[in-house]
Amino acid sequence: MHSRNLGRSVFGDPKNSGNLLPPDEANSLLQEWVPNEKLRLHMRQVAANMKAWAIEKEGADELTALKWEQAGLLHDADWEKYPDDHCRIIVEELEKRNIDPEVIRCIASHGPRVFGVEPESRMDKMIYAIDELSGLIHAYSLMRPEGYDGMEIKGVKKRLKEKTFAAGVNREDITDAISRADISLEDLIQFIIDHQKDVA
Ligand SMILES: [Fe+2]
Ligand SMILES: [Fe+2]
Repeated sequence: MHSRNLGRSVFGDPKNSGNLLPPDEANSLLQEWVPNEKLRLHMRQVAANMKAWAIEKEGADELTALKWEQAGLLHDADWEKYPDDHCRIIVEELEKRNIDPEVIRCIASHGPRVFGVEPESRMDKMIYAIDELSGLIHAYSLMRPEGYDGMEIKGVKKRLKEKTFAAGVNREDITDAISRADISLEDLIQFIIDHQKDVA
């Protein structure tokens, strides 16, 4: 099978530090590359969680928070059109556009088992922890008549134990990511519920 291992661990150019795609360019890239509205919503949710985590938990300044947000917003941008080369295409595109190396590295580290890039920075570790859990929590909201209203940590944990629910979400990755980030699963579940429930 075709490997999505990126085969490298250094991304972007340090001289591009601080460069981000302007919001309108990021949005048009998403419109063009990601026709699937559900996938775009997933990326907006990961972006909202990442930005909020940077500010509330890491005390990030404005530029840093924008980097976390952009990494979240673009991390699956190539998934729909290039599933076999997912991650490589968006990473190369952002390198071509001279985007901040920390943002590119963060995107490249959102799935270490698949892309072969070890999460190093806080931003790297948190995208890995947030990505799959965010997807599972959203799937759970869709099966609840009340959506996110009244959603509890214990309900999410029950769904995590139920292997047939959102079966594409790898539970071992979540456990691995939580331990690498040195955070509590319960805290992250609550954080994600609070910060993605109103993302439209
Ligand atoms: Fe992905
Ligand atoms: Fe994702």
